[in-house]
Amino acid sequence: MITESACGKVILYGEHAVVYGKPAIAVPVKNLRMEVSVEKSATLQIKSECFENLDWIKTGIVKICDELDVDSNFSITIKSTIPIASGMGSSAALSVAATKAIAKLKGVSLDKEAVRKVSYASENIFHGGASGVDNAVISYECPIYYIKHEEIEELEAALDLKIVVIDSKVRSSTANAVAAVRQKHKENKEKVNAIFDDIENTVNSAKFALEAGDFEELGNLMNLNQDALELLGLSVLETTQIINECKKLGCFGAKISGAGLGGNVISIFPDDKFENAKSELSKKYNVVIVKL
Ligand code: PMV
Repeated sequence: MITESACGKVILYGEHAVVYGKPAIAVPVKNLRMEVSVEKSATLQIKSECFENLDWIKTGIVKICDELDVDSNFSITIKSTIPIASGMGSSAALSVAATKAIAKLKGVSLDKEAVRKVSYASENIFHGGASGVDNAVISYECPIYYIKHEEIEELEAALDLKIVVIDSKVRSSTANAVAAVRQKHKENKEKVNAIFDDIENTVNSAKFALEAGDFEELGNLMNLNQDALELLGLSVLETTQIINECKKLGCFGAKISGAGLGGNVISIFPDDKFENAKSELSKKYNVVIVKL
């Protein structure tokens, strides 16, 4: 039996616009992991206590096997500390961990770029029309600047950055959110393209601020990115409320992260506000701290 694992992820800037060829910045969440164990079997069997729809996973696994040119008769056991369907990359982590485990069982050694390419095949089934940012950051396990179809840029992020991830508990579907933005884009291309251009500028500024460790600027840029996401109609009452609470607790900035219409809010706080904010937010919400 071969066991491999993959980390979770958070998108810091650029979600949605990344689907349209604009850049995004994403970071790995290394302490939350998806573990996939694979062994030969008479038929394809999936054992998982975390995922409910195992047929959907089977389709993704078959796709990975096609890409690796192996028979898909495996017994696959999935364990996860990444919360499922919560914007922390569980489906992409499953694709990446399964790709690594199946390749290893076949005796093939894949570098991170090869893992990214193979895992995209199944990620695209899990998330029809995915930009590929999730499986890219999870394959690379380092902060990345990502543009679809371009070479991945690994970022040297400031090491003491702490990102507070707050779950709104409103379950959102990435496919629905992507479809809603697509509809908006269809109805008013000029306006929505201008929003995407603004997001691109924000992401490009954030890349420098991240490398320079300018946390205050990173917060300002989160607020700007949030304004753009609101114009795209991706905010709901619950995430707006969390963002306002972060502001009251003295954050540098806050925004939704990932698909929106619920899901997660991310925020950055000055050092002297961090502990209090973490404990206040934890009283009401599930909070994860991502350290780079
Ligand atoms: O729902 P998440 O956290 O996987 O984020 C989706 C990000 C989008 O940009 C909305 C879609 C994509 O494929 O990049």
